[in-house]
Amino acid sequence: MANFFHIPVLTKEILNYLNLKKGGVYIDCTLGGGGHSEAILENIYPHGLLIGIDQDIEAIETAKEELKSYTDNIKLVKGNFKNLEGILTDLKIKTVSGIIFDLGVSFHQLKEKERGFSFKEDSHLDMRMDLTQEFNADTLINSYSEKDLAEIFEKYGEERFSKRIARLIITERKKKAITTTKQLSDLVIRSLPRTKKRHTWRIHPATRIFQAIRIEVNQELKALEKGLNQAIRVLENKGRMCVISYHSLEDRIVKHLFKEIEREGKDQGDYGLKIITKKPIRPSSEEIRENPKARSAKLRVAEKIIRVKGR
Ligand SMILES: C[S@@+](CC[C@H](N)C(=O)[O-])C[C@H]1O[C@@H](n2cnc3c(N)ncnc32)[C@H](O)[C@@H]1O
Repeated sequence: MANFFHIPVLTKEILNYLNLKKGGVYIDCTLGGGGHSEAILENIYPHGLLIGIDQDIEAIETAKEELKSYTDNIKLVKGNFKNLEGILTDLKIKTVSGIIFDLGVSFHQLKEKERGFSFKEDSHLDMRMDLTQEFNADTLINSYSEKDLAEIFEKYGEERFSKRIARLIITERKKKAITTTKQLSDLVIRSLPRTKKRHTWRIHPATRIFQAIRIEVNQELKALEKGLNQAIRVLENKGRMCVISYHSLEDRIVKHLFKEIEREGKDQGDYGLKIITKKPIRPSSEEIRENPKARSAKLRVAEKIIRVKGR
């Protein structure tokens, strides 16, 4: 399904790697517009169950409408995947057959001006995925110290000019609060050295800063680590998890965690992981042509192996 909300990425590959079985229970930890969920439902219907989780109420509402022909086979939960085990306990479900994560923001969140995720539109600096959360990008930019700002730009944006940008934010916010996406992106450009002329930009300089702020506002990397660890625990034997990431910080976490659990599982423990994709799967050039936003996607897949006691 490709609706206005989001075009799902690597769908054929996800379906293939999940090894879907009739009657299985699957979790889509990042429901968005429900594109991946619908593809899964098409393949398990009329049996099985799909649990769709998203922390964005707008995603839940859209997916509810898009998936209305499958109401007997879905449970939609507004929540954060960092609480995956708690969500499953509430649903009285112990183990599941497969799990997907399609990380980051949806096209809807990026395009919807009021959500404040994009420097291409001028709006209030918000960037919350969960609209019930109080902390937003405006609070971050106007309250963090120069050192903390520089640190998140460096750590989450891998930005070379973190310190210069943080310094100018502090100077400017003393004169006037920085509350809009345009104010912030203009300021990022102003803080670059004069030699960094516009025609030398590979990507817009605000890209990395907006990514860093988004990650901090939504605590994305912490949620990812928690969510992945819980996902591995709730998988049944031979259950698979598929994770699509869109930048190196996310991909690194997935890769290292898979490797660590695979190694630990071999040495000891009740379960381990078998890494199915030695190298991440990338979208085909055809998919990228049709959906340029897919170009940075990387899919990693692992299978849970439960050890038989006494062996
Ligand atoms: C790339 S979109 C998913 C698109 C979806 N696969 C589709 O086909 O429409 C990512 C979604 O994950 C949600 N999300 C990101 N981090 C989350 C978290 N920690 N817990 C719950 N939802 C999260 C976002 O709100 C967004 O709607």
